[in-house]
Parts: sequence; structure tokens; C-alpha cells
Amino acid sequence: MKRLLAAALAVTALSTFGQAYPGSRPIAIVVPFAAGGPTDRVARDLAEAMRKTMGGGAHFVVENVGGAGGTIGATKVAKAAPDGHTLLLFHIGMASTPALYRKLQYKPLEDFEYLGLVNEVPMTLIGKPQLPFTTYRDFEAYIRANASKLNLAHAGLGSASHLCGLMWQHAVKLNEAMTTVHFGGTARAMTALVGGQVDVMCDQTTNTTGQIESGRVKAFAVTTPKALSGHRLLKHYPSLQEMGLKDFNLTIWHGLYAPKGTSPAVLTQLNRAMKAALKDPAFIQKQEGLGAMVVTDGRTEPEGHKAFVAAEIVKLKPVIEAAGKFAD
Ligand code: MLT
Repeated sequence: MKRLLAAALAVTALSTFGQAYPGSRPIAIVVPFAAGGPTDRVARDLAEAMRKTMGGGAHFVVENVGGAGGTIGATKVAKAAPDGHTLLLFHIGMASTPALYRKLQYKPLEDFEYLGLVNEVPMTLIGKPQLPFTTYRDFEAYIRANASKLNLAHAGLGSASHLCGLMWQHAVKLNEAMTTVHFGGTARAMTALVGGQVDVMCDQTTNTTGQIESGRVKAFAVTTPKALSGHRLLKHYPSLQEMGLKDFNLTIWHGLYAPKGTSPAVLTQLNRAMKAALKDPAFIQKQEGLGAMVVTDGRTEPEGHKAFVAAEIVKLKPVIEAAGKFAD
């Protein structure tokens, strides 16, 4: 009966002006990082797929609101009108930032409506093309010998690239931390890496696959427990666990959120459109071509998504605390 009611409500979801939602107003998806990076990429591909699954009547815009590891953009959405016209696409930062920011302007588990988990993305340890080696072993030895003289690029405290960098430095037990350079997103960081202005970065395969394939950066390892044997290019790189970093396992995920208080009818309509988009062959092909995996389990439902993020917050806190000295 409940689902029937929800379905009926979904059909009659009304936008602010009483038109059928979404009406003529665009739906903004806030991306809390600069344009051109992996988060932005997922948002644009998802928006295109959801436009189709909402019958072409919906008009999506992607709004890049970078800074502070994604928390500035997340804050904007937490405080936005709950009318279904402002959504947030955020990644593992939703779970890592509570352990890194003493004063977040929002409560991750209370100030958002959870619309569902979209994808899971491995990360790659990459370096500037001028590095004089190609294997992970030589990469690790070089960093050990020169850590404080080398620049590690990331997208701000709590970003995926920051989290990976601190976890890797802790796992290899560096005696001193690398020098970090912060960017508004890893698109800008990638430009600096390709140009040799920074030395190393850990970034999502959705942003690195093309650069690796073109030879503009060097790749050394992936962060998933096993090598990505199913991917035409990434299968050539070992996992950090295979390189001796016991238990190293980092997979980035992206979820979709609305401000708390958005009507159930609008939430149901958005969740349905998102789930249909995750089944869109074009969306799946784009994601898999870049090493990402589209979520197909219960985490695409609001309850499953929220339970997953709650568990990630608990899991990441000790990981970040243990790596504290690398958390710059
Ligand atoms: C990150 O490092 O958190 C992301 O790659 C940032 C981005 O999407 O640009």
C-alpha cells in the first residue's frame, strides 16, 4: 500500500509553482569541485542519463562550487530550498570530511535526503611524465628517498585524492610527509602534473585513464585490493596489496543528495529517474570505459545509500586518525 501511495504521489509530484515536477525550472546538480574533474564527469554523465529517464522534460544544469575538500558545495545544498531544484553529487568526501573538519556547516546524516549511490571508482597512483622510472617498486623507493622534496597534488582536505595520499603515505610508513599542493579539483591538479609542476597524485580512474593511455602521465598502481584485470588498460598495473601494502583498499563512490525536507513525491521521482539512468547502456558504457562500476545493489535506494555512508563515516575515522601526520 505504502509503495502504491508513493507511486501515486510520485506521479503527482508538484514543483514549487504547482506544475508537475520538475516543471520548467532547471534542476541544478551541485558538484563541489572544479569543472573537468572526476566528480564533475560523473555528474554530467548522470545528468544526461537522468534527463532521458525523466522523459526529456527535465533540464539539468551542473554547478561547480569548489573548495574545502567539497564541503563548501555540500554546505550550499544543505542550506538550499528543499524544492527538488538543487541536488548534490558528492563522493567519499561525505564520509571523510567529518573526521577532518572540526566545524562542518552541516550534519551529513541529518541535513540531506539520500537519493542513492551511483558508482564506485578505483584510484590510480600516478606521476609526472619526467619521473625516471616505470615500476611501482621504483616509485616507492624514489618517494621514500625524497619525500619532503616531492609535491603531492590533491583537491583539498577530505577530497578523494587527499584521502588516498594520506592513506598511501601512512601505509608505506614514510619517515616524513610529502609536500602537498592543494587544487580546487583534480582537473587542475592533472594539468599541473602533466606539466611537471607537481610530482605525484592519486586520482580516480575516471580522470586518469585517458591521461595514462596518452602517456601524459605515468601510472604505477591501483588502490583496489586486486588489479583491474577486466580493464583493457588498467589491467597492466598492480594493486597496492599485490605490492605488499597489506589491506590497502580504497574505492571512491559517488552519491546523489537533496536538501532535507524535499517532498517524498519529488524524492521518489528523482530516485526512480536515477535508478533508470544507472541502467542506461550509454551511461554504463561511459563509466566502465573509465574503470568505474555502476552500483546495482540496494545502495541505489535511499535507505541503503544512507546506511552505507553511515558505515563509511565510522570506517574512515580511525583510518584518517591513524594517518594523522599526513593529513595536511
Ligand atoms: C577528489 O580528489 O576528491 C576529486 O577528484 C576532486 C574532483 O572531482 O576534482
